[in-house]
Order: sequence, then C-alpha cells, then structure tokens
Amino acid sequence: MGKPHIRSDEGTAPKGASYSTKSFRAALPEPIRSKGRPAPSSVNPHRLKRRRRARFGRRGKGKVKAVRLIVTGGAGFIGSSFVRHLWRERPDWEIVNLDLLTYAADPESLAAATAASPKHTLVRGDIADADLVQSLFPADAVVNFAAESHVDRSIVKPGLFLRTNVVGTGVLLDAARKFGVGRFLQVSTDEVYGSLGAEGRCSEETPLAPRSPYAASKAAADHLCLSYHHTFGVPALVTRSSNNYGPRQFPEKLIPLLVTNALEGSPLPIYGDGLNVREWLHVTDNCRGILAALERGRPGQVYNLGGGEERTNLEVAGEVLRLLGATAPLIVHVPDRLGHDRRYALDSAKALAELGWRPQFSFGEALAGTVAWYRENEGWWRRIKSGVYREYYARMYPSCVS
Ligand code: NAD
Ligand code: TYD
Repeated sequence: MGKPHIRSDEGTAPKGASYSTKSFRAALPEPIRSKGRPAPSSVNPHRLKRRRRARFGRRGKGKVKAVRLIVTGGAGFIGSSFVRHLWRERPDWEIVNLDLLTYAADPESLAAATAASPKHTLVRGDIADADLVQSLFPADAVVNFAAESHVDRSIVKPGLFLRTNVVGTGVLLDAARKFGVGRFLQVSTDEVYGSLGAEGRCSEETPLAPRSPYAASKAAADHLCLSYHHTFGVPALVTRSSNNYGPRQFPEKLIPLLVTNALEGSPLPIYGDGLNVREWLHVTDNCRGILAALERGRPGQVYNLGGGEERTNLEVAGEVLRLLGATAPLIVHVPDRLGHDRRYALDSAKALAELGWRPQFSFGEALAGTVAWYRENEGWWRRIKSGVYREYYARMYPSCVS
C-alpha cells in the first residue's frame, strides 16, 4: 500500500506505528502479552476497574500516561483524524482501532508508517460482534466513532443504522461493563436535539427530539451510554458536535460533495431552498474536544462541541465557488431531503467551562485550507468517485446526471 499524502497540519504517525488488517487475534499487539498482562479471563475485574478508572479524570494533574485505548470507526473521517491527533499529542498511547472498513472508511489515511509496532493496530471487524469486541479488552478507555453516519442513507435504509449505531454501541457498552474501563466516550451529534427555528441554541439540557433515522439511532445510543452509567456505573460520557468538515471527508457529505463537484465542473446540488443552516466545526477542533472530554470530562455527562459558525447551505456553496474562482453558475436546486431539519445550533458553554475547550479554526480560513486539500489531492477523491459511488450518485441525484 502506498503512503498517502498527509498534510503537515494533520500530523503523521510516530516512528513505529503499525498498520495492519490481520485477523483480530493475530493482530493483538504481542508486546502487551509479553509485558505479562493477564489474559482477560484471569483478570480480577474489581482491581482492574479501579486501576483503569484511576488513569482518567485527574483534572489538572497532567497527561495520562501509557493508555491502551480502543478506538472504533478509526478509519473513518473523524476517527482517523482523531488517531492522527493522538499520534501527535499522545504518542505513548497504544491504540487498537476496530473498524469494519465500510464504503466510508479510508484505511490509507492511517498508513503513514508501516513498521511492525504495538502502538497502532487496525482490526477489521464489526462493533456488533460481541466475541470480537470482547477479545480486544482489557483496555483503559473506549472512544466510539463507529457509525453509519449519512442522513440520506438512513432515509433509504434505516435498518443498518439501528444495527450499527444502536446494537453496536450496546455491544461495546456490555464489554466495557464486563472488563471495566476508565472511560467510555460516545461520539455523538447535534442532530439528536432536532430542528431549530431561526433563533436559539441547544444546551445539554435540551430534550432530545431526533427527526431522521440517523439522528434517532444516535439519540438511542446516547441514552444507552448514559443508562449504563446510571445503572451499572460504566464511566460513560457523550460529546455532541456540530457538522464537521476538513480533509478526507467522504464526498457524500455537503462540503466535499460541493468542492469535488465544482472541481469537476459538475452541478452543485442544493436541497430545497438552500436556506437550511448548519454550524460548522473543523474536524481537528472536534478531535481536540473529544480528547479533552476523554481526559477531563465527568462520567455521566454530555458535552456539546459547536463550531460557532452558522451558514446556510447556499452560503457554503457560494463560498466554495468563490474559493475555487469558479464563474459558471453551477448551483442547482434539487428536491428537498425528506424531513430535512432546518437549523442546528449548539450552546457549547459547558465544554468551555469544564474542559477549557473552544474551537480554534475560523470557518473562512479553514474552509480555504480544506478546499486546497481537495484541489491538491485529486487522486484521493477521484478514486472514490469512480467506484460504486457513481451508482449512489445517480440514484440520489438523478437530475444532476446526464
Ligand atoms: P464516517 O462515516 O466517515 O466513518 C464511520 C466509520 O465507522 C467508517 O470507517 C466505517 O467503516 C466504520 N464503521 C461503520 N460501521 C461499523 C461497524 N459496524 N463496526 C465497526 N466500524 C464500523 O463517519 P464520521 O463522519 O467520521 O463520523 C464519526 C462519528 O462522529 C459518528 O459516530 C458520527 O455519528 C459522529 N458525528 C459526525 C459528524 C460529521 O459531521 N461527520 C458530526 C457529529 C457527529
Ligand atoms: P450533510 O453534509 O449531509 O450533513 P447533515 O445532514 O448531517 O447536517 O448535509 C449538510 C446540509 O447540506 C444539510 O442541510 C443537507 C444539505 N445538503 C444539500 O443541500 N445537498 C447535498 O447534496 C447534501 C449531501 C446535503
């Protein structure tokens, strides 16, 4: 596998980080065993739980050392960005990355280093496979990114969203409960709060009102996590971010779809009147927030991570065209998404007060960087768009295909 182009602002793997798609048993990092850690079956669960909990939540006492972390969905857009973020910020951490490698995965984004090493192991598999999941423990913490993540696909095929997003999260929680972890962080979304009018923002206290099958499946998973904390004492917490953007996002989501279509000179499909509003967050800011919540967040709590930059979809499309210097009238209005939420907006004051988190990227500058990444990495998105994606696109956007 060739080395992918990784921009300097994204970081690269530390020396010795490994990339492997071996079966999970073969892929379990040997040095863990040779260090004499007991096999999961011989672990005293009470002592293990105390030890693993002690590594997290030490506010102000410095970085947590020598963590063994299970990341799920770490070959996807945000998950892989999080893994690269940890390579920069927590190079000592050992990462076991469980990912089914669905259409949305980009394992090459993790192939920056190839030498055999225990620091990062990619295990291909399903979070709903209980035997596989349990074989990856013990672990100090779990961060669950794995999900079916596209609203439009959830409208076409809701069942898959229930299996991965709800049942899969339940399987992970059962394993975390059985083996004991220091933290279980569920990566969630502002979409669980439902649609807003022109005014107002959702705080963590706002009642959930999901309106798409995707949002309903994420809300169910959030509730499961918090119920496992309340009922069983699993130290679970939830982050809910607003819409992410940045390099390497699969071009079914709005921003990469607009940018790559504009680069091809193809129409930019805008649903309905284009006045739906989203709050945009650079993916690296989300990763910073997730790490802050993992290390400093309180179990049983929810933390909103909003980018603070609201735009209508038409404004985003206009900005993309301006950045690319496109003069052709490429924007086309296509039939609206079923049940399309009008506006999302988060109140992120709690993350600032408790985690010291606030976004660092401004939308204007970071969108320019993102557009530049897609312009410089045509091979990456053209490979995706030449495959089964073409059938997907023709099905979803019949009026845009000649
Ligand atoms: P993505 O679709 O790019 O990646 C999802 C990853 O999960 C893929 O690598 C896929 O192979 C993996 N996966 C899917 N089903 C799996 C299964 N059954 N077992 C193991 N792995 C599986 O998604 P993303 O945009 O990176 O989102 C990551 C998480 O963040 C999701 O939970 C999503 O709900 C949440 N989120 C995303 C956004 C956003 O704007 N993209 C915003 C808020 C929250
Ligand atoms: P999307 O990236 O799918 O994220 P989400 O639905 O999870 O917020 O869509 C962002 C916004 O862009 C949403 O209002 C739907 C709209 N949109 C379009 O107008 N055209 C498109 O082709 C897509 C994919 C989205």
